[in-house]
Amino acid sequence: MPNKITRRQALLSGASAVGAALLSSRTFAQDAGMEPRPDYLIRAGTNENPYGPSRLALQAINGAMHLTNRYGGIDDQLRARLADLEQLSPDHIVVGTGSGEILRTAGMIASMDKGSVVCADPTYHDLVNYAERAGSKIIRVPVDDRLRIDLDAIASAIRRDTTCVYLVNPNNPIPSIIAKDALRDFVLEVSKKCMVFIDEAYYEYVEDPAYASMMELVRNGHKNVIVARTASKIHGLAGLRTGFGYAHPDHIRLIDEKKTSRQNILSTSAAYASYGDVEFQNFTRRKAKESMAIVEKMFEDLQLRYVRSHANFTFFETGIDVRELNARLREHGIHSGRPFPPFLKWSRISMAKPHEMRYYVQTYKELFG
Ligand SMILES: Cc1ncc(COP(=O)(O)O)c(C=O)c1O
Repeated sequence: MPNKITRRQALLSGASAVGAALLSSRTFAQDAGMEPRPDYLIRAGTNENPYGPSRLALQAINGAMHLTNRYGGIDDQLRARLADLEQLSPDHIVVGTGSGEILRTAGMIASMDKGSVVCADPTYHDLVNYAERAGSKIIRVPVDDRLRIDLDAIASAIRRDTTCVYLVNPNNPIPSIIAKDALRDFVLEVSKKCMVFIDEAYYEYVEDPAYASMMELVRNGHKNVIVARTASKIHGLAGLRTGFGYAHPDHIRLIDEKKTSRQNILSTSAAYASYGDVEFQNFTRRKAKESMAIVEKMFEDLQLRYVRSHANFTFFETGIDVRELNARLREHGIHSGRPFPPFLKWSRISMAKPHEMRYYVQTYKELFG
């Protein structure tokens, strides 16, 4: 009898993900008031957009398909559109194969005279790992006791040979933000001595009035400030690899000269369309919030420590070794974020669709609650 099934049985029966067995487990699970296990791996480990690309981006990709015999994309049109959106001239923008290319190129430039690069710990790895391989000393500054980037400690860690300070805002894997006034003062002061690179990959998700992009400093002509953005996150184009650097034209020329790839017509066409699709961005933001509410309720229910998120992922203390946690979740069809030392008993979980997050919460409670 379907209504005799226990919660654990319903959950586990969902694990047999084929044919009639799946269908009947769905019925059982639904009858038991539970979220059925999807018949695919839930991707909640890499901060992607589960809804993207937007319809307009897909149409643009289709429309550009017959042009793939040609070299090059439509970089100039794309830069003109972004320049318009940010009230800059296009010579303030460089397009990369993902913002990762801009990060790595900046890391390489920062390391040309060796020296040091300062960043928070933990933070996103691309720029600093590349700089380290290119010969920089990396100075990692632990986040404060509320897990926020500690600007004072970062300022104190800057040495005479520091060539670049890398800040991720909102940070990753800890989705905290830096208060705008403190950040602006910091950037204005530190950029007198070295490059300040602000990675704003999740900028579009932030709704807190305490946050501000540092694009205004680029707009106002400040040198030694680079802002990075990406089409991989809210725009849902991670697989097509398009990202951007915004800076004074002198820095843009240098990055453009040193970076090694060029865009292709499909990625630039998709990004061009997507940056004109405000509705899709609003939709994605709304759905990410809906998913976040489901997961944050679990944190409250289970009294788990977490960091209030300003992005499409969250970070919480599980008390369980993250490798073990991930292996267990994987058995139940969920891909969760990789380990982020030294936070080895914390987990980063990206927002998939609401029904997928309901299944995640149900699974987490069953396994670890
Ligand atoms: C903070 C941050 N910056 C940059 C990136 C790189 O994104 P992409 O190279 O896809 O633009 C990521 C990807 O997860 C990220 O989290």
